[in-house]
Formats: sequence, C-alpha cells, structure tokens
Amino acid sequence: MSLKKFFILISLSLLLPLFAYALSDAKVTGPCSNCHTMHNSQNGSAVAKDGAGTGWDGSGQLTGGSVQGTPKNNLLVTSCVGCHSSTTNQTIINLSGNRIPIVFNTVPPAYMTPGPTNALAGGNFYWAKNVNDDRGHNVYGISAADSRLSDAPGRNEGGGCMVGCHLTLANPPTGSGTFYQGGCQGCHLKPSHHVDNGIYRFLTGMNYDPNNSGYATWVGNYGYQDYIKGTEDPDWEQTNSRTKHNYYQGATGAYAGFGHNVENHSITAFCSGCHGVFHSNMGTSSPWIRHPNDVSLPTTGEYGGYDPVNSYSVEAPVAWLDPANPSRTGAVLMCLSCHRPHGSPYPSMLRWDYNTMVAGGGGSGGCFTCHTQKN
Ligand code: HEC
Ligand code: HEC
Ligand code: HEC
Ligand code: HEC
Ligand code: HEC
Ligand code: HEC
Repeated sequence: MSLKKFFILISLSLLLPLFAYALSDAKVTGPCSNCHTMHNSQNGSAVAKDGAGTGWDGSGQLTGGSVQGTPKNNLLVTSCVGCHSSTTNQTIINLSGNRIPIVFNTVPPAYMTPGPTNALAGGNFYWAKNVNDDRGHNVYGISAADSRLSDAPGRNEGGGCMVGCHLTLANPPTGSGTFYQGGCQGCHLKPSHHVDNGIYRFLTGMNYDPNNSGYATWVGNYGYQDYIKGTEDPDWEQTNSRTKHNYYQGATGAYAGFGHNVENHSITAFCSGCHGVFHSNMGTSSPWIRHPNDVSLPTTGEYGGYDPVNSYSVEAPVAWLDPANPSRTGAVLMCLSCHRPHGSPYPSMLRWDYNTMVAGGGGSGGCFTCHTQKN
C-alpha cells in the first residue's frame, strides 16, 4: 500500500476504538473484510473457517478449526461461535477498527476481576465446555447436549413448547423456521449487527418481526415489540464499577399471556420464554414458593441494607423499572441477579459459589447482598 494510505489506516485504527466506545448500541464498525468474504475464495483457496478450536489469536488472526469449502450465510468469514471465540484468555479482541466481544475462550478467562481477561457480563462458555455441563447452557458449536437435562427446567408453562430450543440449544440453528433454532440463535434469534435498533444485546422472542407483517398473531400482531430493552455498558462489563455497568429492564406486573417480552421487555420475561414456570408459579407475596423475580426489592427490613442506586453490586445486580432513570423504589429482582446466561465457574451457572453461602457464618456477597441479616 502507498505511504499515504498507510497513514490514513493508522489514524483510522487509532480513532475508531474511540468512536466504538462512544456508541452505546450494537452497530458494528470497521473494514468489511474483517468479517465478510465476497466469494469465499482468495488466491484460489477457500477463506471461511469454522469447527472445533476456531478462534481469534493474540495477533488478531482467526486460527484453528478447518477451512470451509461451503460458504457461510451473509458471506461471513466464520460462524457466530467462531467469531466470538478466542484461543487466548482475552475477552475483547481488537482488530483494526473492530472490537470483538468474546464469549468462549479455549483457555480460562478471569472471573469478577475487571481487566482484559475478565469474563464479560454474560459469563463465558469455557466452564460448561471444560468443567461440567451444569456451568452453562450447552450450545451448538461448543458443547453436545446436556448429559442430565433433556429439556429446559421449568419449561412446561401451559404444557406447550415441546420443540427445539426449549429442549436443547445443542442442535444447529437450521431447523424449520424460527421454531427450531439452536445454538446462539436460540437466544439471539435475529442478530442485527448493522443496526442501532434499541434491542438489548440482540435479545428477542421468536415472534420478533421488525416489519410487523402479521405473523405474530398470539401477541396481537405486536411482533415488532417482541424484544428486550436495557442500557448497554460499552465494554460489556469487562471493566465495571458501582457506576459503570449494564442497566437491565425489569417489570413488576403479572405476565398476562404469551407475549411476556411484548408487555414487559424485561430480561426475566426473556428467560421465562423457556423457563416460564420459575416466574409464573412463584407465589405473589411472602411466603413465596419459588424464589421471586420481576418483583420489587423492598426498601425495608433486611433488603433496606442494599441500595443498588448508590452501591450497585455487579455480583448480585438488579433490573430497573426505568433503566434510564434508576431509582431505589424502581429496583427489581431478575434471573440475572443470580445467574450468568452463558455460564460461570459455578454450578447452575450462578454468579457466585452457593456452597459458601452459610447462614450465621458472617459471610458477605452473593445471597447476602440482599439478605443482609442472614449472615
Ligand atoms: C465486525 C464484523 C462486521 C463488519 C466489520 C461488517 N459486517 Fe456486515 N455483517 C456482520 C454480521 C455478523 C452479519 C450477519 C448477522 C447480522 O446481520 O446481524 C452481517 C450482515 C451483513 C449484511 C446482511 C444483513 C444486513 O444488515 O443488511 C450486509 C449487507 C452486510 N453485512 C454488509 C457489510 C458491509 C458492506 C460492510 C463494510 C462496510 C460490513 N458488512 C462490515 C458483521 C460485520
Ligand atoms: C465475523 C465476526 C462476527 C460474526 C460471524 C458474528 N458476530 Fe456478533 N459481533 C461481532 C462484533 C465485532 C460485535 C461487537 C459490535 C459492537 O462493537 O458493539 C458483535 C456483537 C454481538 C453481540 C452483542 C451485541 C451488543 O449489543 O453488544 C451479540 C449478542 C452477537 N454479536 C451475537 C452474534 C450471533 C448470534 C452471531 C451469529 C448469527 C454473530 N454474533 C456473528 C462480530 C461477529
Ligand atoms: C431458548 C430457550 C432458553 C432460554 C431463552 C433460556 N434458557 Fe436456560 N436452559 C435452556 C435449556 C434447553 C436448558 C437445559 C440444557 C442446558 O443446560 O443447556 C437450560 C438450562 C438452564 C439452567 C441450568 C443449567 C445446568 O446445566 O444446570 C439455568 C440455570 C438456566 N437455563 C438459566 C437461564 C437464564 C437465567 C436465562 C435467561 C438469561 C435462560 N436460562 C434462558 C433453554 C433456555
Ligand atoms: C440462554 C440464552 C443465550 C444463549 C444460548 C447465548 N446468549 Fe449471548 N447473551 C445472552 C444474554 C441474556 C446476554 C446479556 C448478558 C448481560 O448483559 O448480562 C448475552 C450477551 C451476549 C454478548 C455480549 C457480551 C456479554 O457477555 O454481555 C455476546 C457477544 C453474545 N451474547 C454472544 C453469544 C454467542 C456468540 C452465543 C453462542 C455461542 C450466545 N451468545 C448464546 C443470552 C444468551
Ligand atoms: C438481588 C437481591 C436478592 C438476592 C441476590 C437473593 N435474594 Fe432471596 N429474596 C430477595 C427478595 C426481594 C425476596 C422477596 C422479598 C419479599 O417478600 O418481598 C427474596 C425472597 C427469598 C426467600 C423467600 C422468603 C419468603 O418470605 O418467602 C428465600 C428463602 C430467599 N430469598 C433465599 C435466597 C437465597 C438462598 C439466595 C442466594 C442463592 C437469595 N435469596 C438471593 C432478594 C434477593
Ligand atoms: C435468588 C437467586 C436466583 C434467582 C433470582 C433465580 N435463580 Fe435460578 N437458581 C438459583 C439457585 C441457587 C439454583 C440452584 C440451587 C437451587 O435450586 O436451590 C438455581 C437453579 C436454576 C435452574 C436449574 C434447575 C435444575 O433443575 O437444575 C434453572 C433452569 C434456573 N435456576 C433458572 C432461573 C430463571 C429462568 C430465573 C428467572 C425467572 C431464575 N433462575 C432466578 C438462584 C436463583
């Protein structure tokens, strides 16, 4: 390349990370060629790479796996898993002009240790793959189906949802239509890397239909509303503090029908899409029969000891009735108060080690973040 082009590239690559940081939404930046291959052919050889071991190395090269003669959808250089994986312990890979959030490291990332190797907000699939199935969701391209669970626990709300992703996420995302999506697309159903559409981390229900073409009849043709809201931390909580973190959408009303996401846009409604019983059959006040979620964090009693507005805990976070204007009375309990959706070092993909939660033992953190008088 010419010297001039070289300098333009250098200054672009210095500037772009700043721009990327300023964007609060998901829209990708950077050279098309980092992510796309026009013909899946370069110097006469196939380009796309995928399969076990694919991931970015420390120098920004996609390594491992095997070269794919069959081109990928959307002309991509690899799959969802391939591009969001790394063979290093870094959890954000910087290419010229792109920052790639890593959700699967083939060597252990750090946990709850802000810095370049810290597992991102969703956790990491490392532990489910390498330690035990109960450390995370078993997803296609990383793990085989869970050895203990033949469906999503708490699944059979209304007796329905006998299909696809409600049984396992370890099948390929290729079945018939939206109903049988496995893998990453079981949860990130319709990714929109190139659009700033206000959808939190591409999380939608299966009726999400940006054009509202009328497919989603059971939610009253509000398919365009079938998505999750929230305020996204710009580095996915790789670094975080009491004031720098994601702000999740919560809700407190009863879920009326199947359109939980449409009504509430809450992260708990999202999980309830596959684990509905754990919200719909929890009771309505103390004594609860299952741990409550999408309920307010009381301001009195032992709960009064946790003020997430001023002392937010990334270990035991809350959602908000209005994430843009977080207030103490608007703090809500959610599934992610206790779980990491991708996986964690602990059983049941919990955010902390449940074995260390011992009543009367003087402990702190985890359950004691809210149950401040049980330690
Ligand atoms: C950081 C990676 C990345 C970069 C850089 C990138 N893309 Fe994409 N692109 C994707 C992914 C991933 C998808 C498929 C999933 C989706 O749409 O969210 C996609 C989908 C697309 C689509 C189909 C869906 C749509 O939104 O229309 C087009 C067209 C496209 N890209 C064009 C481009 C062009 C042109 C450039 C350069 C100017 C570019 N992309 C740069 C990652 C990237
Ligand atoms: C070739 C690389 C590439 C591929 C393939 C790819 N992604 Fe991404 N993805 C990216 C990059 C880069 C970002 C970060 C965009 C940004 O800076 O916000 C991203 C962001 C995301 C996010 C977080 C969005 C946010 O709000 O920050 C999710 C979720 C995601 N991708 C899921 C997927 C899924 C599911 C697939 C497969 C359908 C996929 N990705 C395929 C490169 C890729
Ligand atoms: C698309 C369906 C689907 C969604 C949405 C979903 N799950 Fe799951 N979940 C499953 C399936 C299937 C299993 C059982 C197999 C496995 O572990 O992968 C499971 C298992 C689990 C387990 C037990 C893990 C183990 O192996 O012991 C926990 C905990 C869990 N999910 C929490 C969540 C949380 C929290 C959310 C929301 C962020 C969520 N799930 C969203 C389908 C889903
Ligand atoms: C069970 C549902 C589920 C599955 C399966 C799933 N994700 Fe996620 N993902 C989530 C949720 C929920 C978040 C938001 C986490 C948060 O903000 O605390 C998220 C966040 C992300 C992010 C942003 C980084 C972060 O950690 O916050 C990326 C990138 C991403 N997912 C990619 C993927 C890829 C790639 C796969 C497949 C290998 C995948 N996800 C599978 C639910 C899921
Ligand atoms: C983010 C805050 C938070 C965390 C973390 C949390 N809880 Fe709770 N817990 C609550 C709230 C709020 C209630 C319901 C209070 C009410 O009655 O309004 C509750 C209710 C309960 C109840 C039922 C009480 C009753 O009155 O029936 C038990 C038991 C319980 N929690 C145990 C735990 C355990 C064990 C952990 C750790 C695994 C835990 N909680 C973590 C906030 C939390
Ligand atoms: C207060 C903390 C807390 C909240 C909130 C919470 N969970 Fe859990 N969850 C746990 C703990 C602890 C376990 C494992 C031990 C147990 O069940 O006592 C668990 C286990 C699970 C399991 C595995 C069950 C099995 O059969 O192995 C699933 C699935 C699950 N949770 C999903 C959810 C979903 C979905 C939500 C939100 C609707 C949620 N959890 C909210 C603490 C919580």
